[in-house]
Amino acid sequence: MDLVVTTVHKPPLSVIQMAKDMAAEMSIPFVPRDRHSLAAIREQYEVNELIVATADGPIAHSEAGEYFFHLSMAELRIKNLINGKHDHMVTAMGLKAGMSVLDCTLGLATDAVVASFVTGANGAITGLESSPVIALITRYGLQNFSVQSEADITSALRRITVDNVDYCQYLEFLPDNSFDIIYFDPMFRNPINKSSSLKPIRTLADMRPLTLEAIRQACRAAKQKVVVKEAAGSSEFARLGIVTTVGGKYSSIKYGIIDCMPEKMAGGGPPWNG
Ligand SMILES: C[S@@+](CC[C@H](N)C(=O)[O-])C[C@H]1O[C@@H](n2cnc3c(N)ncnc32)[C@H](O)[C@@H]1O
Repeated sequence: MDLVVTTVHKPPLSVIQMAKDMAAEMSIPFVPRDRHSLAAIREQYEVNELIVATADGPIAHSEAGEYFFHLSMAELRIKNLINGKHDHMVTAMGLKAGMSVLDCTLGLATDAVVASFVTGANGAITGLESSPVIALITRYGLQNFSVQSEADITSALRRITVDNVDYCQYLEFLPDNSFDIIYFDPMFRNPINKSSSLKPIRTLADMRPLTLEAIRQACRAAKQKVVVKEAAGSSEFARLGIVTTVGGKYSSIKYGIIDCMPEKMAGGGPPWNG
């Protein structure tokens, strides 16, 4: 892997240990920071990307910028739900307490945190992420990040399990009817938001498009629905044979819904069926 782990300058012992643990977990070199600049470490080790261990968790430094765990819109979306407002993803999934969700494209886990809050202590959220760096940063954040005076949101983070795996491989061996909902939020091939804060993920993330075979496996392994997030007006819905979409009238995002039960019974139909 074209990557090394280092620390901030003058790290406490706990941060050095964190960096060594992460290096061992990812089988990549640990580089003591000493007085070196990140640019000097990049040059010496001939790497484009670095993970820097800090007291607040790991930060990935790539050419495109810094990438670290944060709640993004999850906290606001949860507060809106508490105040009785609507969340299009929750509606698309038909989420209720106690349900199980497989999030095949975990990323920063913003959607997974919202799902975990709704499904609650008796629900189960499993997140898959094929990028080792994103999986590492998200796993650390979900286990360590606390939301001030919001114990329920913090608990929602802790309940999510993270698996650094390609969903194609995972789905292939998943038994039938394993999760209530299976969810995909692939990287948009035409980025909606070109803001600099989203650029770093694009150099770290797995950019492959969703395949019909993955949808077919997901329909087999889901008890209720497969939900796909895409840009409104995206041709991906048609390519994937998804006809039902929900989302705000003026929203740039839509959620495609495949109701797996009738499709399992019917046979024929869309390209992923069978
Ligand atoms: C748009 S982001 C998901 C954002 C996420 N829904 C959130 O709320 O933070 C897509 C993520 O899926 C990951 N990904 C893409 N293809 C994958 C695959 N085949 N298996 C697992 N993860 C994949 C990418 O690396 C990226 O981190």
